[in-house]
Amino acid sequence: MKTNFLILIFLVKFFLVSAQASKNKDLVEVKIDSILNLMTLDEKIGQMNQYNGFWDATGPNPEGGEQLKKYESLKKGLVGSMLNVRGVDEISAIQKIAVNETRLGIPLIFANDVIHGYKTLSPIPLAESASWDLKEIENSARIAALESSAAGTNWTFAPMVDISRDPRWGRVMEGAGEDTYLASLIAKARIKGFQGDDLSKHNTVAATAKHFAAYGFSESGRDYNTVDIGDNTLNNVIYPPFISSVDAGVATVMTGFNDLDGIPVTGNSELIKGTLRNKWSFEGVVISDWGSIREMIPHGYAKNADNAAELAIKAGTDIDMESNIYVRKLKKLIIDDIIDEKLIDDSVKKILRLKFDLGLFEDPFKYLNKEREKEILNSPELQNAVLQMAKKSIVLLKNSDNLLPLKKEDLKIALIGPLANDKNSPLGNWRTNSDNNTAVSVLEGMVKYIGNEIIYEKGADLILNPGGIVKFSEKIIINENDKSGFDSAKIAASKSDIAIVVIGEDGFQSGEGRSRSKIDIPGVQLDLLKEIYKVNNKVVLILMNGRPLDLSWADENIPAILETWQLGSQTGNAIAQVLYGDYNPSGKLTMSFPRNTGQIPVYYNHKSTGRPGPKKVVFWSHFNDVSNTPLYPFGYGLSYTSFKYSNLKIDKKFLNANQVINVSILLENTGELKGREVVQLYIKDKFGSITRPVRELKGFKLVDLEPGEKTQVNFKISEPMLKFYNAEKNWESELGVFEIFIGPDSNADLKETFELIQ
Ligand code: NOJ
Repeated sequence: MKTNFLILIFLVKFFLVSAQASKNKDLVEVKIDSILNLMTLDEKIGQMNQYNGFWDATGPNPEGGEQLKKYESLKKGLVGSMLNVRGVDEISAIQKIAVNETRLGIPLIFANDVIHGYKTLSPIPLAESASWDLKEIENSARIAALESSAAGTNWTFAPMVDISRDPRWGRVMEGAGEDTYLASLIAKARIKGFQGDDLSKHNTVAATAKHFAAYGFSESGRDYNTVDIGDNTLNNVIYPPFISSVDAGVATVMTGFNDLDGIPVTGNSELIKGTLRNKWSFEGVVISDWGSIREMIPHGYAKNADNAAELAIKAGTDIDMESNIYVRKLKKLIIDDIIDEKLIDDSVKKILRLKFDLGLFEDPFKYLNKEREKEILNSPELQNAVLQMAKKSIVLLKNSDNLLPLKKEDLKIALIGPLANDKNSPLGNWRTNSDNNTAVSVLEGMVKYIGNEIIYEKGADLILNPGGIVKFSEKIIINENDKSGFDSAKIAASKSDIAIVVIGEDGFQSGEGRSRSKIDIPGVQLDLLKEIYKVNNKVVLILMNGRPLDLSWADENIPAILETWQLGSQTGNAIAQVLYGDYNPSGKLTMSFPRNTGQIPVYYNHKSTGRPGPKKVVFWSHFNDVSNTPLYPFGYGLSYTSFKYSNLKIDKKFLNANQVINVSILLENTGELKGREVVQLYIKDKFGSITRPVRELKGFKLVDLEPGEKTQVNFKISEPMLKFYNAEKNWESELGVFEIFIGPDSNADLKETFELIQ
């Protein structure tokens, strides 16, 4: 027995240390098979088991006593990867157990939700998407990979590539907005940023495209809710960012919590095996979401834990995150001949392959360097990078009479609002790896920028939680009544030239489990804004929020509005630079802003309906009490300068599959400041074998122009851009007439027409 054991150890160690060879794919496969041969069934199943760290959680906590059992499981080799273990010290301690104390010494993978940074936080992903700047977004993910890997993380559960049209859903903050084309490009950029060109480097991390599939379409935006959508939306709207992620070489895919057309996605074999693996050839690891294998029981789909394990493994889910079901149930299913051991072997091979790809077999401690951790975490280079991203994420929604940018001198400023000196909310919801109160607040940013000539008044609290510090899982209590601070805020505003009001959502009003039934400005904040406006109408409204909000009153009354989302660690510095015009805002919305909650879903690429309007009589598709249009459309955002679009030209009116249409417009900076414009190209397919959206984004260009400068902006249109999932269930184009629109947002009105011919 003992001799066998020593031989095993020798063999495994032999395979583990041969660094050079791990670069060679074939040899890696040989090694994987050899390791697999050495493994007991329990050990194989252990690789498919992922546990949360022993100290902290991003989901419902396991029942009492479980933690200790988990620790014992780790020593028995019954854990393959962990999440929420952070920092070189903690990770080293656990990796040592895996490598030195388990029978085969197989290293663990350490995963974390590095969603928009680790310690140094960049803007929330929805904000970053508003930059439309793919290079900057890639760099932001690169920074996150650099920092998190220096703290020992090998794997991030990002990017979330779910499309959503419902701002009530708290997780829209984690995505790239409502548009499939843009989100697909952003998914690619972020995966490239996280994974780099070599996963085995100590400064890259494996990425995860999540949540497969359709989690962003939960009914009424209520988290974890049912999803019931048709094949057309699934294929044309939801799948493309996942396809783009697979094309970009994403290492892993996470399933969602939702059911889709009656089947929980974690147990949906047609989806995972049929579509993801067979159709799209995804070869990486599929991981469940937190407890989503177990949740198939309350879904009313799996009859019990055994059945849940069976459904999930048969569907193709390789790793069980925190359901604790694979490790307890899979063995019996094999013994009882309910599942074939080959299913286990297939999953384990993928998991071991990921460990090889990450270089963990080469050196299980390669990510664990105390010096590097100290040097990289929170370093000035990272802070500077997230500042650049933050400035580009801000969207100017309104600027009457050019109230912005502010003059640097001679202005008396009152800075008002519960978020004006908040150092937590700007960090957003996914701040679990970072430290509380580490964002530069707007007050701090402005004081640093212009000195101390600012009168600051909070005006009211946004939340009533003791100390204002909320945990990831904790409910927040909104202040709905206390207006006792209004008077001093009004006095400050009345004595000043300009009132800057910073309001919006607490960082924990969006994110997982943070759906809202109304998307208004919460608590007493709108009343505060109204009161301030009464005493001084020169108001600049700075919004911080993780979702589109109902801004109808503000839009009608307040002269200048900046949407700053949650901008991360450098919030106050970025906002100060934009307020004073050192950076001219260039962001454009990636989600439509509804006029009220009842309009939801409101999105630009909707269908025409059989009764489009407007019509004089009531018989057309509309609301009687609000317009059909959003308050601010997709793609919208102003600048301190102005841009003129003219001369839309196309070089041919007919296109076949072998040709390209060259399209151009003339763009001129007609204002007095240098600025950046996101020039957007939309195409409308006039008729199809299924109804087609009124227009779809098909291209965009970021153009930087000096005052008075003009330039021709060029696009190319080719047949593959016109493909869609059609009535034949094929991804193809259909002959006919198309319209092209180019302009500054999804209402672009410069128009041309062409025909796709045989
Ligand atoms: C649940 C979330 O849905 C998922 O996105 C996240 O990665 C896991 N929890 C782990 O924290």
